[in-house]
Amino acid sequence: MILVLLSLIACGDPDPSFTVDEHGPTYHADVAPILRARCEGCHSAGQIAPFTLNSYDEVSILGAQIVDSVETRRMPPWLASDDCNTYEGSRWLAQEEIDTIREWVEAGKPEGDAASALPAFEPVEDVLANPTHSVAIAQPYAPDFEGSDDDYRCFVVDPQVATDGFVTGYQIIPSDPEIVHHMILYLPSSDSARIRPWRMTPLKRATATPATATPG
Ligand code: HEC
Repeated sequence: MILVLLSLIACGDPDPSFTVDEHGPTYHADVAPILRARCEGCHSAGQIAPFTLNSYDEVSILGAQIVDSVETRRMPPWLASDDCNTYEGSRWLAQEEIDTIREWVEAGKPEGDAASALPAFEPVEDVLANPTHSVAIAQPYAPDFEGSDDDYRCFVVDPQVATDGFVTGYQIIPSDPEIVHHMILYLPSSDSARIRPWRMTPLKRATATPATATPG
């Protein structure tokens, strides 16, 4: 009797990674092209993301986390919703792309036909062509990680623009991308007299709090 009960429980909650739907999306045909267009520019060797998403093995092992990151729109990082406007070079994923990734994971992450794999990812030289204006921070800056995991800095940079005009694009180029986590750019209001170089001392990473749940 106990054995019957156990097997019912096991059947009632199948692990999706063991069920492969042959008719659903596959990695090579459906998922890899999305990641090529939307993720690999950062998730490749030498780029800013901390791990690579260039192969079936790398992507499938993170399947559930990738679904969560795209459904919550943490990834790709892009805060400007296409509900408001459309932008050239937008990273906003179409809902169908998110659905494809989720259906692929739910279907057991089938690899598909490896013979149709995309060619190896080639990083593109991602630098704005012919910028009309460049500015730099006044002094080179070496981060200080003393006592914390992050060094969060605010730099005030005078763009040295004398006349009004339209900005059609901009790019931040850190001299060491390996240690730059993110960059937030503000245009100060006319009250710029109050703007000054600033440093936030971040909280140290919280130490694990002992679990309060009672055993059982
Ligand atoms: C503009 C660069 C960039 C692009 C494009 C990008 N990522 Fe990321 N990704 C990052 C960085 C940087 C981190 C590390 C973030 C951190 O440490 O907080 C990260 C972290 C992650 C993580 C782990 C953290 C989390 O939020 O779950 C996942 C999963 C992920 N990316 C998936 C993707 C997928 C899938 C795509 C494409 C659909 C993508 N990323 C596109 C830069 C990028």
